[in-house]
Amino acid sequence: MIRQKIVAGNWKMNGTKESIMTLVNGLLEMDGSDAEIVIAPSFPYLSQVNDLVDGSCLVLAAQNISDEVKGAYTGEVSASMLGDFGVKYVLIGHSERRSIYRETDDVIATKVKVALEFGLTPMLCIGETLEERESNQTLLVCERQIQAVIAEVGIKEFEKMVIAYEPVWAIGTGLSASAEQAQEVHCSIRAFLAKSSESVAQKVQILYGGSVKASTSSALFQMPDVDGALVGGASLDAKEFIEIVKTAS
Ligand code: G3H
Repeated sequence: MIRQKIVAGNWKMNGTKESIMTLVNGLLEMDGSDAEIVIAPSFPYLSQVNDLVDGSCLVLAAQNISDEVKGAYTGEVSASMLGDFGVKYVLIGHSERRSIYRETDDVIATKVKVALEFGLTPMLCIGETLEERESNQTLLVCERQIQAVIAEVGIKEFEKMVIAYEPVWAIGTGLSASAEQAQEVHCSIRAFLAKSSESVAQKVQILYGGSVKASTSSALFQMPDVDGALVGGASLDAKEFIEIVKTAS
């Protein structure tokens, strides 16, 4: 099955009004791409970026979402609020949320459910730590993280989702997984999904994330089960991000 590639930039907690305007204007100079191009600014800049990308090929994502729908949850941002600002995708379960903010598999599964209920597309981030990889638990961890979401929303809902495999040891370290390592895990993730539904497994886009750069993305994107990338640091540089996007065409 042909799956459209997605190249997504997660800007994390970076940027100012000015730097974001420069970054988005740089990205808007990009030629068309066969890939879907997604950018995820932090919450305060969603409105600004939504206005800037209006009518372009850039698609908006949020980096997080509340597991509650509305009410007295100080500091939280709801799914419907994200919808108000033109957000299509929302990152859920990023390793920084799992480790620093102690988000459990259950909380993440609830966030996925809420996002789907409000018509957002969850980008479910999964992946193992170095310790887990070294003790051969990579697939166990990925499967546990996915299974928690299947238990909450059911396998069919994965047709409306994207998975981002992000080995924790590769995030922000400059140490990307090799294309072969990524392919091996992506293929296993698809096989795991296929145990519940072959058609869903073939349809779901699985992105790789972790120190992706223009010099490594081409090999990654040639792998049959790598359907794009979730890019952190390199997405803050318009030229580098555009080069990554070019390798996805
Ligand atoms: O969401 C993006 C990932 O955390 C990857 O970040 O490209 O800076 O390693 P990175």
